[in-house]
Amino acid sequence: MFTAVDAPVRRLVRLRFGTIRLSNMSMGDVRPLTAAERKQLDSLVTEKPGLIVSVDGPGGSGKSTVGAGAALKVGYRFCDTGVLYRGLTWLALKRGVSPDDSGALEMLITEVELAPDPQQRYVHLRADGREVTDELHTPEVDREVSRVSQHASVRAKLLPLQHALAAGGRIVMAGRDIGTVVLPEADLKVYLDVSIEERARRRAAERGVSDDAAAVAQIEEELRRRDGIDSTRKTAPLRKPADAVVIDTDGYTLEQSIDAVVAAIRAKERELAQGHA
Ligand code: C5P
Repeated sequence: MFTAVDAPVRRLVRLRFGTIRLSNMSMGDVRPLTAAERKQLDSLVTEKPGLIVSVDGPGGSGKSTVGAGAALKVGYRFCDTGVLYRGLTWLALKRGVSPDDSGALEMLITEVELAPDPQQRYVHLRADGREVTDELHTPEVDREVSRVSQHASVRAKLLPLQHALAAGGRIVMAGRDIGTVVLPEADLKVYLDVSIEERARRRAAERGVSDDAAAVAQIEEELRRRDGIDSTRKTAPLRKPADAVVIDTDGYTLEQSIDAVVAAIRAKERELAQGHA
């Protein structure tokens, strides 16, 4: 097609692809587009493709709640990758597979499935033939998940799924290594920072044990232990991506944290739209 109009192609990038139907025309016929057809084509070109956004941060920083809330507000899909590691840990515990046995863990990966909900959030996990999402935040899973997630081979096996989801664009993906390893080319990288005391308080509130000082202290200790393993492991440790927008949510309400992420997404959308104009 390009050769026919004497326009040699050096680099062809498919930005968007859409269809308009040209009825009552035979091969070789030529006619101008109608106003309605032009409008239809315009809408294909002007519709914003949307960004790929990574949200990383330590346990209890609110990545999943804040990320999902922001995604909903901007009309993006959302994926919480922590659910994958938790699901794998849940299944390993159930099957009696050691969290140190990377080979056996790899075999279990085909049995966990992230399923989107009607709002296009990938936060529900199916394993063992049923939905197990509600069983992924138990102390047992908390205790073992960092052991499961430190295996390079297990992490590598989980990459294609995460890449396939991101390839569709318009997505917020939350985890520990999304901006650094999984999606280093993300359009926007967010890192949620928050003190360990605040994280423990929030987790305790989620679990309905805010008034129990011993329980809060235990949650804080567990977060500290998991932070330690997650940020010192050899493969894909938790790090602030160098080019991340760091949002410190200490003292923020949930709504303020969501709004801060939405503002960062909107600003990046505008920046990229201007760059393309
Ligand atoms: O985010 P969440 O606390 O649910 O993650 C549970 C665990 O899964 C983390 O402590 C970490 O060991 C692992 N994880 C990871 N990489 C991700 C997401 C989670 O290693 N991208």
